[in-house]
Amino acid sequence: MGDLAAGKVALVTGAGGGMGRAGAEIFAREGAKHVYVADLKEDGGHETVANIERVGGAATFVKVDVTEEDEVAALIQRIVAEQGRLDAAWNNAGINDTSRAFHEFDKASWDRMIAVNLTSVFLCMKHELIQMLAQGGGAIVNTSSGAGIIAAPGLPHYTAAKHGVLGITKSAAGEYNNSNIRVNAVCPGMIDTPMIQGWFETNPELATMVLQTMPGKKLGRPAQVAEAAVWLCSDAADYVSGLSMLVDGGGVNR
Ligand SMILES: NC(=O)c1ccc[n+]([C@@H]2O[C@H](COP(=O)([O-])OP(=O)(O)OC[C@H]3O[C@@H](n4cnc5c(N)ncnc54)[C@H](O)[C@@H]3O)[C@@H](O)[C@H]2O)c1
Repeated sequence: MGDLAAGKVALVTGAGGGMGRAGAEIFAREGAKHVYVADLKEDGGHETVANIERVGGAATFVKVDVTEEDEVAALIQRIVAEQGRLDAAWNNAGINDTSRAFHEFDKASWDRMIAVNLTSVFLCMKHELIQMLAQGGGAIVNTSSGAGIIAAPGLPHYTAAKHGVLGITKSAAGEYNNSNIRVNAVCPGMIDTPMIQGWFETNPELATMVLQTMPGKKLGRPAQVAEAAVWLCSDAADYVSGLSMLVDGGGVNR
């Protein structure tokens, strides 16, 4: 038990599993007053809440599709109605896809990827910023990727979305730096989550090849990324804004 999030009201999207779940649990471990667990997946979301309550924390699951602006707006309004404020938000929900040659992608796959992995981050940031401006401050972290910095093989739409996440992170960090609002991004390497397990199953050869390039030839753990996200949201990071923080064991710079 630490105090990095002591008394804070926190939101994590995509917290029904993977890195988001680890983040919600770490916010609670670090003393958050209440953690909002947002996800499409109801069973996963309830499981995250149960994990937090089992160790004495307070959390609420909210079923949200982060690509829908009215649902995102309603989520923030609900948090404010119940807690009076929103101190920390980790915009982390996302999807992956099957790797293909660039010229084999159709527009529907492109549109879906951009909607879930980039537009959703814009929507969450917009409504979080409205509340943080009204209350006089806050901290936001967005999940980009190593693919926000270099290209992910066979995933041009994912690469574009994650580069875009870094762009809007920097844009907002500069714009709100006089409003006591910090905006940062984490860029995970390959982390052992349901998403990456699915990608390994659908792209076994590529996955084996990529794994060989990972530090220690193994995947990272969700908590290794989540610890960084919770720290970036904390007062310990109160002079850090606009950062693209790689959490990849040095993989991108190999
Ligand atoms: N696992 C990796 O190696 C890796 C690497 C770099 C970046 N990332 C990014 O990290 C984030 C978390 O991924 P993860 O690996 O923990 O995956 P995950 O699949 O375990 O978790 C993602 C969660 O987001 C939720 N989600 C998806 N679409 C949603 C929507 N429209 N509305 C609400 N929730 C939605 C899913 O239900 C799921 O619970 C993603 O943005 C992903 O792109 C993952």
